[in-house]
Amino acid sequence: MFATDESTTDDMKGKGAEPQADALHGLFYQASRHYKEFCAMTAAVRLGIFDALEEPLTLEGLCDACRLLPPATKHLLELLCELGLLNRQDDRYRNTPLSALYLVTSSPLFQGAVMRDIQNGFALWDRLDRVLQEGPIAVEEETFFENGLVDSLAAEILCGELQKTVEAVASVPAFKQARSLLDLGGGHGLYAIALSRINPELHATVFDFPDIARKAEEVLAANGADRVRFVPGNLFTDDLGSDHDVIFLSYNPGGKNPALLKRIHDALKPGGLFVTKHVFYKKEEGSKDRLLDLEWSLSAFNGVKKGDNVYRFSGDLSWEAHQDLLTQYFTIEETLEADAFSGLPLAKFGDRVDSRMIIAVKKGMVP
Ligand SMILES: C[S@@+](CC[C@H](N)C(=O)[O-])C[C@H]1O[C@@H](n2cnc3c(N)ncnc32)[C@H](O)[C@@H]1O
Repeated sequence: MFATDESTTDDMKGKGAEPQADALHGLFYQASRHYKEFCAMTAAVRLGIFDALEEPLTLEGLCDACRLLPPATKHLLELLCELGLLNRQDDRYRNTPLSALYLVTSSPLFQGAVMRDIQNGFALWDRLDRVLQEGPIAVEEETFFENGLVDSLAAEILCGELQKTVEAVASVPAFKQARSLLDLGGGHGLYAIALSRINPELHATVFDFPDIARKAEEVLAANGADRVRFVPGNLFTDDLGSDHDVIFLSYNPGGKNPALLKRIHDALKPGGLFVTKHVFYKKEEGSKDRLLDLEWSLSAFNGVKKGDNVYRFSGDLSWEAHQDLLTQYFTIEETLEADAFSGLPLAKFGDRVDSRMIIAVKKGMVP
C-alpha cells in the first residue's frame, strides 16, 4: 500500500513502464455508467413514469400518480433530464418528444419490447462463465424466437426498416400485379401487413413456428389485417404451397440454405418475386462483430446447428455460392446494402450488421 522504494514511487506518479489504470478504469466507467443509465430507463418505463409525464407534473404529483418515494425519484427524474428523456420547467417534469414517441406504452412506436430483449440478453451474458466451461445453453429454436425476440424485432423495424423495405419491394413492377404473398418465418407479420396495405389485391400468409401464432395473431388483429392469415409450420419440412406471386424471407436461419432456396423456387410462380434480406459471409470471411459472435455462442438451437459467427448456420452458402445458385433460378432485380434500409445497431442479436436485401424474379425453368 505504501511506496517503499523508488520504482514504486515512480509507478504511483505514472512514470513507470507499467500501464496506468486509467485505460482500464475508462472501460469500467463506460460499462458501469451505461448499464446504470439503462437500469434507470427501464425502471422508469416499468413504473409508468413516461406514461404519467405526458402531462407536466411536479415531483410530488408524479410520486402520487406512480406511488413512488420522492428522494430517489428526484434523482431519477434529473438523470432522465440529463439523458434527454425528460424536460423540467420550473418545478414540473414532462416527456421530451423522444420519450413521448418511444417510451409511452400507448404509443404505436413504444420500444418497451426492445428494452426487455436487451435485458434478456444480459441474463444470458450473466451465464458466460458457465458457457465457457460447459458449452452453450441449449434452447428450443421456437422458444428462442418466441421469448421476446420477435416482439423486439417488431418494435425495432417500425422505426424505419419496415417502411424502407416495403418501399423497395413495392417499387418493383411485378409487385403491383401480385395477388398472393408468403412471408416465410414472418414472425410478427408486419411485412405481410404493410405489403398487403400497399397492394389492395394482395392476400398474404405469414408462415412461422406454431409458438409464434400468439404474437402474429395479436399484430394481425391490432392492424385489422383481414387479407393476412397465419399458418403454423416448419419452413424446412412443411408444405410451402405453390404458385405464390411473392415470397419474402427476412432474417431467417434458412436464409442461406441451398435446400430452402430450391423449395422457395418451387413454391413461386414463374415471374414471381423472391425477396431475401440476410447477413451473408464472403468465402474465407471471418468475424463481422466479435461481441455478437460471443453472444451467438452463448446458446445452441436444438434444431438448426449454428456456425461460428453471428447469423452463421451449418450448411450455409457463402455470399459467392449463394449468388451463383440464386442466379441459376432467378434474375436479380436489385441488391440493397444495409444502410439503405436498416436502423442503428443495439449490440444485440437482431442487429443488421452488413445485411443485404436482394429482390429477384423467378426464371421459367430450374436448370
Ligand atoms: C429473426 S426472426 C425474423 C422475423 C421477421 N421475418 C423479421 O425479419 O423481422 C426469425 C423468424 O423465423 C422463424 N423461424 C425460424 N426457423 C423457422 C423454421 N424452421 N420454420 C418456420 N419459421 C422459422 C422464427 O420463429 C422467427 O419468427
